[in-house]
Amino acid sequence: MNTSPHLQLRPAVAADEARLLTWRNDPWILALGSLNRNVTADEHHVWFAKRITNARHPIWVIEIAGEPAGMVRLDPCSNPTVAKVSLYLIRAHCGQGHGRKVLALTAEAATSLGYRELHASVRQDNVRSQRAFLSAGYLMEATGEPELTMRLSLDDATAARPVSIDKPKPSAHDDAPPVSCAA
Ligand SMILES: CC(C)(COP(=O)(O)OP(=O)(O)OC[C@H]1O[C@@H](n2cnc3c(N)ncnc32)[C@H](O)[C@@H]1OP(=O)(O)O)[C@@H](O)C(=O)NCCC(=O)NCCS
Repeated sequence: MNTSPHLQLRPAVAADEARLLTWRNDPWILALGSLNRNVTADEHHVWFAKRITNARHPIWVIEIAGEPAGMVRLDPCSNPTVAKVSLYLIRAHCGQGHGRKVLALTAEAATSLGYRELHASVRQDNVRSQRAFLSAGYLMEATGEPELTMRLSLDDATAARPVSIDKPKPSAHDDAPPVSCAA
């Protein structure tokens, strides 16, 4: 019997603006990410308003057992078939195996959006994040200071993906269906 809480990604909506700003400026999350500075509410408002209407570069709220638990998004890269993944879970949900499941769902959704490759930058000292990406089938592509690059080819991601997805792929992001699996 599967007793894991249900985990899903749902597209961020206007009502998530304040929540995402609070998470984004959480000192613990800040210290583990690439951009070590707070963003202002004004800066966030402009960025968020643009992004929630950008179907090509979505922001998803991670929900665990129906509660907001983190964020994952696809940022643009110079190659339009490649997206950069950024994610975090709030502290209470870290270290429980959710990260690699979020990454599996993200790969599924990115494939539906037509991406062929995902990249991520991970701090050298963020071992948990590196291991979550490796568990989700990413390869460690380059080691730089203070970050290294992780890469997932979506052409062969089906073989690499360790989590079984229990819902069909979304047909288009415009329909904004959640992407989910048992956490
Ligand atoms: C990074 C993050 C998404 C990973 O998700 P998670 O659910 O916490 O990670 P998991 O529980 O799936 O663990 C991932 C791996 O790290 C290992 N791990 C867990 N806690 C660890 C720790 N404190 N130190 C080192 N490894 C750890 C797990 O054993 C697992 O390894 P395995 O897959 O080889 O068994 C999450 O921890 C997070 O959001 N952290 C805060 C923000 C952040 O770091 N974002 C990423 C920026 S690139």
